Amino acid sequence: TRHLLGIKDLTLEDIELIMKTAQEFKDVLNRPIKKVPSLRDVTIANVFFENSTRTRLSFELAEKRLSADTINFSASGSSVKKGETLLDTVNNILAMKVDMIVMRHASPGAPHFLSKHIKANIVNAGDGTHEHPTQALLDSFSMREKLGDLAGKKIAIIGDILHSRVALSNIFALQKQGAEITLCGPTTLIPRHITELGVKVSHNVKETLKWCDVANVLRIQLERQQIKYFPSLREYSLYFGISKQMLDELDKEIVLMHPGPINRGVELTSDAADSHHSIILDQVENGVAVRMAVLYLLAAQN
Ligand code: CP
Repeated sequence: TRHLLGIKDLTLEDIELIMKTAQEFKDVLNRPIKKVPSLRDVTIANVFFENSTRTRLSFELAEKRLSADTINFSASGSSVKKGETLLDTVNNILAMKVDMIVMRHASPGAPHFLSKHIKANIVNAGDGTHEHPTQALLDSFSMREKLGDLAGKKIAIIGDILHSRVALSNIFALQKQGAEITLCGPTTLIPRHITELGVKVSHNVKETLKWCDVANVLRIQLERQQIKYFPSLREYSLYFGISKQMLDELDKEIVLMHPGPINRGVELTSDAADSHHSIILDQVENGVAVRMAVLYLLAAQN
């Protein structure tokens, strides 16, 4: 495939190849000289129509470590504000002889639409509530570092599943690797038909924590909520918030993950987020190697 639009389209073999390549790049990143010449003469545009800290910086650093030339576009401050369309914006960027587009957009399917109209490689850096494939790949990579093979492992995804592209991409990635998945959250934040994907649903966070090897915790995405959902943030933290004490009291090892940004005091207390259970900053570190692998493998096909 010329693009990475979502995890749904990947095979287990694709995921294994990305994991293996990411490990090789992680080894490179641990050396004194972190830069490799793999993407010299490749030009990549990071095109962000939605806010981002981790994904945008991680892609830019991955591109620089691979020796690609990079340009960065943010919709705020651009001619999108004067009414320029998505396709015109991207075609103007491509006219400057750009080879690959990394795009984040608020509309589900925006990168799929682009893929039908442009020749450059496209990497989806998050499309609305749909998919965030590189986040799921770096999550899988980070879980595998802690647990090895994910087949049969018990993974809980806890929080606002309804608005989460991270949840959907993780479900596809983890199922392809043979993991068992439980989604946990209030009924209003879990889509009604999600069990058709073969996942379990729980509304009891303490029971879910007892069950799982990994708790991947998501934030409440207030910016995507059209109406005021039950529960309020205070109610959410009361019934679904996770504290360090809850994790310490489990009679087992548990891996705590979060894609960021964290709403401290809502889905996680600060002491949980910063505890020895947490691999949250390892996820961020691994994101660079995983994105290097994705960009390298796509460019290698050109
Ligand atoms: N995890 C993630 O996508 O973070 P950003 O929105 O900051 O990129």
